[in-house]
Amino acid sequence: MDLNLPLNSFIPNISSTRNLIDFALSTPHPESLRYTFISSIAAVQNWNEEHNGTKVPEQIITHSRHAAMFGYGESKHIAERILAMSGLQSYIFRVGQLCGAISNGAWTTKEWIPKIIKTSIALNAIPNIGGVVSWVPVDKMAAILLEITMHSGNTLLLNGVLNVAHPKPVTWTSIVHKMQKILQSDFLSMTGENAIEVIPFIDWIDALEVAVKSSDAGSGIIRATERYPAFALLERLRHFAKSSPPVEIKSTNELETECGGLPALSLNGALMASSSMRELLADDQVLGDHHVQSWIQYWQKVDFLPDQ
Ligand SMILES: NC(=O)c1ccc[n+]([C@@H]2O[C@H](COP(=O)([O-])OP(=O)(O)OC[C@H]3O[C@@H](n4cnc5c(N)ncnc54)[C@H](OP(=O)(O)O)[C@@H]3O)[C@@H](O)[C@H]2O)c1
Repeated sequence: MDLNLPLNSFIPNISSTRNLIDFALSTPHPESLRYTFISSIAAVQNWNEEHNGTKVPEQIITHSRHAAMFGYGESKHIAERILAMSGLQSYIFRVGQLCGAISNGAWTTKEWIPKIIKTSIALNAIPNIGGVVSWVPVDKMAAILLEITMHSGNTLLLNGVLNVAHPKPVTWTSIVHKMQKILQSDFLSMTGENAIEVIPFIDWIDALEVAVKSSDAGSGIIRATERYPAFALLERLRHFAKSSPPVEIKSTNELETECGGLPALSLNGALMASSSMRELLADDQVLGDHHVQSWIQYWQKVDFLPDQ
């Protein structure tokens, strides 16, 4: 998913959603079909602007101003509403950030987090930010989705929205310190360079800009974005950093503040309907060292990060 693309780039995706709905409605027994749509937290990203302190409910949000003001979030908002109006039986999964699989750490290198990590190795600095993350391992997400959609008795949840995020968030700071520890032990002996520091996100973004600008002239930018792949996301990252709470502020509210100003999602439906979702409440499912280690090993295996 490219965070930089405008809404009109997503017209083929919105049209495909609509075409599939029309196809389903043209069949002899559309009432027997169930349409599953994977939406995103980006469809409700601005929820906090008007409802700070409340979780996003498991229902269609009818005000488009709550969608993220970039093409991806807007397209998900539109598709949710088209499906809700279609009359088909449906499940809409509104998914928060996914992370590497529990089974093998697999996390696509096209995503913004792996790009930040690769860039951090090149900068010898990893960015810190306030707030929590509620990332769900991708294989866990698949299990939750299959459990709910394949269970014919789940009629209570039909035609609603199921928010899916990790029910036990952890701080970004805890993740980056785990990253720092693993990256240091993996790469420092190899590169002989300075220690990888944890620095404020805004400073990290400035350092990234300086590093790319001081790269070789001519074809430098192309080579620089290979070395610093997060550079392509610069404006979004700046916005993300500005929207995040300061590192030192600890939320006293029951609602933890998410990084990037993302809203907290109400998770009752998925927790009720899916034992895989409830498993995430166990202590060993909270994102920790073993998760971070497996993501890094996967990125090394696919030659995204250098191997020892
Ligand atoms: N990743 C997240 O954190 C996240 C969070 C919230 C929601 N979501 C949603 O979850 C869904 C999957 O996301 P992802 O991150 O797994 O994406 P992904 O890694 O980019 O995978 C997308 C998949 O869709 C296939 N695809 C794309 N365009 C297609 C088309 N026109 N026809 C047929 N297949 C097509 C791709 O096929 P190829 O491999 O052949 O290109 C790929 O297998 C998306 O709807 C995304 O918006 C993801």
